[in-house]
Amino acid sequence: MGTRLSRPTTTNRASGAPRLVATDAAPAHIASEPRRLEPVTPLKDASCGLMRYQSPLRYPGAKSGLSGVIGELITAARSSIGPPELFLEPFAGGSATSLRLAGAGLANRVLIADADPLVARFWQVAAADTEWLIDRMWEEPVTLERWDFWRSWKPSSASDRDIAMKCLFLNRTTFSGILHGRAGPIGGRRQDGPYSIDCRFNKEGIERRLRFVGDLYATNRIADVWCKDWQHSLVDVAEWYPQLLPNKVVTYLDPPYLERSMRLYGKSFDPSGGYAPKGGISIDWSGKAEHYRLAEYLRRRAQFRWILSYDNHPVLIGDEGLYAANQMGPTAEERSLLGVRSWKISKRLVNLRYSVTSKIRSERSELLITTLPPGTVPSDGKFMAIP
Ligand SMILES: C[S@@+](CC[C@H](N)C(=O)[O-])C[C@H]1O[C@@H](n2cnc3c(N)ncnc32)[C@H](O)[C@@H]1O
Repeated sequence: MGTRLSRPTTTNRASGAPRLVATDAAPAHIASEPRRLEPVTPLKDASCGLMRYQSPLRYPGAKSGLSGVIGELITAARSSIGPPELFLEPFAGGSATSLRLAGAGLANRVLIADADPLVARFWQVAAADTEWLIDRMWEEPVTLERWDFWRSWKPSSASDRDIAMKCLFLNRTTFSGILHGRAGPIGGRRQDGPYSIDCRFNKEGIERRLRFVGDLYATNRIADVWCKDWQHSLVDVAEWYPQLLPNKVVTYLDPPYLERSMRLYGKSFDPSGGYAPKGGISIDWSGKAEHYRLAEYLRRRAQFRWILSYDNHPVLIGDEGLYAANQMGPTAEERSLLGVRSWKISKRLVNLRYSVTSKIRSERSELLITTLPPGTVPSDGKFMAIP
């Protein structure tokens, strides 16, 4: 699988300089052909499933607490449809929910997908080539010079393993974990404040989380990692795993927010690209076509159960083109050709705590919309039914 490097190589290499670009072969699997679903085997280290933070990435827009909430929905639905054989996260980002569910055995397997090649490649290498990435991380000095290097570095091919290192490095050293655009390094260019560029780069902690990802993949609990647009992920899962339709696949979709997300991701739902123009964003519904496309697909063509989370914006449950309906509405053709059901759609508000800065925490409500069996969707405690 390639050259192993002892750690920490930055101190034992004669020049002290890290390798810039790996030339080793890409990981054995992952890419064009989907992976067969294999029986899951016991984890090497089950205690990792209990870690508070399981993702090696600190992902912008990841909501602390939501993975637990999704876990509760899945657990409640087991009484009716059993545990998911496959849990698909097509807007994976930091994949916090997939890792939590796979580690706890709440879903038998998870499939991680994201349209951002930097993010998808990170998960592919973290899953299938874990030891290489761990070694590579240990040899990487966490300095401003290296931040400048990774910011401008361009891979020579999409299979370059160093894309994963670029993602990990920039995610852990850039303000708010933002991978693209204008966000600068933690601590600024002068590095003279209370936070330094390496303050979020605890290599021991990241190594443990990377091992957990590798363990999930080696035990077939991470079924695969795809770099795809959400619609391709949904269509391809139905095509590749038809034996699991309709109840044994559950997908959890956490698309870019209606507001703010253009600043956060390389891939957003903004037709003009991933980054907002200077001066901020105002909600302009003419530019929200992708949100309508997703809603229409979920209401009419989704062939398996889905859970969707969004920022709580009134238009989402008020607009017929979005999620005003309380039931899926496939056409007769979609019902007969694709086997789409007319499942009921349940909506709940959930209060979540999230970090504004490392010191300030705040609360915000998140909208959850789902086609899980309605009798199993909680409407007490933290789940507030929408009148
Ligand atoms: C809100 S974030 C997901 C955060 C994730 N739930 C977590 O806990 O870290 C949205 C993600 O969707 C991805 N994305 C944007 N447009 C996409 C598309 N058309 N298809 C698939 N993924 C997309 C972005 O790259 C980003 O990682």
